[in-house]
Amino acid sequence: MKLVSAKEMLDDAVKGHYAVGHFNLNNMESIRAFLLAAQETKSPIILGLSGGTAKYMGGYRTITDMVQGFINFLDITVPVALHVDHGKYSEVLDAIENGFSSVMFDGSAYPIAVNIEKTKEVVRLAHAKGISVEAEVGGIGGEEDGHIARGECADPNQCKMIADLGVDFLAAGIGNIHGKYPSDWEGLHFDLLADIKSRVGDLPLVLHGGSLIPADQIREAIRHGIAKINVNTECQIAFTEATRKYFEENKDRESKGFTPRAVLAYGLEATKEMCIKKMELFGSIGKA
Ligand code: 13P
Repeated sequence: MKLVSAKEMLDDAVKGHYAVGHFNLNNMESIRAFLLAAQETKSPIILGLSGGTAKYMGGYRTITDMVQGFINFLDITVPVALHVDHGKYSEVLDAIENGFSSVMFDGSAYPIAVNIEKTKEVVRLAHAKGISVEAEVGGIGGEEDGHIARGECADPNQCKMIADLGVDFLAAGIGNIHGKYPSDWEGLHFDLLADIKSRVGDLPLVLHGGSLIPADQIREAIRHGIAKINVNTECQIAFTEATRKYFEENKDRESKGFTPRAVLAYGLEATKEMCIKKMELFGSIGKA
C-alpha cells in the first residue's frame, strides 16, 4: 500500500461522525508502533512530523523511505498518510519534493494577509501532486504561552477566508493547547467551534493538543465537526513511563536485557497501546 493523501480519509470521517488520529513520530519505534496499531484495528492513520523530529530522523526523504519501507515490510493495508505537522513554508516545500502525502502549513503567526498568500501557494504546489493541505488560524497555545488557561482562539471570519483557499482541512484554536493542560484550563470552546463549523460547512476541522483532554470533550468536539485529532504528549509519556519501569524492574540486568532493542520494546508496546486507546475514543476503529 502506497502512502495516501489525508483528504479522503477525513472527508469520510466527517460523513461518518468520527475522527482520524494524527500521531507524531518521534523515532523508529513510533513508526512501527503506530503502523501496527492501525493495521490491528483496521483504522486509517495520519503520521505527523514536526520540523525538529524531521531533522532528528534524517530529513523528509529518509523518513518517507523509512515509513514506506515499513508499510511494505509489515504488509500494512490500511490507509496511511505521512504529514508535515506545523510546517514552516520551507519545510512544507521540502516535504512536497520528498514524498510526503500531506502537509500542514502553519501560517498562524503571520498577519492574516500573509497567511492567506502563503497558504494559497502551498495549496497550488501540493494539489498539483495530489498532496492534501492543512492550514491553521489562531495559533495553538503551548506550555510557554502566556495565555495557557484559555488557549488561543481563532477568528471565525479568518477561518472562512482560509477555508475558501481550497485547503483540505483546517486547524483552528478553540482553547486547546499542546502538552499538559494546567489545572485552571477553561476547556474547549464549543460555541466557537460551532460558529466556525457553520461558516466552513463540511470542511474537516482539526483539533491539535489532543492529549489529556477529557473523553467527554473529545466526543463533543467530534460531534461538532472535528475530524482529525493530533496526539503526541500522551504517547511520549506512555513510551517513557514504560521505559522507566523496565529499568526500575532491573530488566536490563537480566540475560540480554541490555540490548537497545530489548530496552525499547517496552516503550514501543506502550506507544501502540496508547494509540489504540485513542483510536477507540476517536471512533476510527474498523473504518479502514
Ligand atoms: P499534544 O502533544 O498535546 O498531544 O499535541 C500534539 C499536536 O497537536 C501536534 O500537532
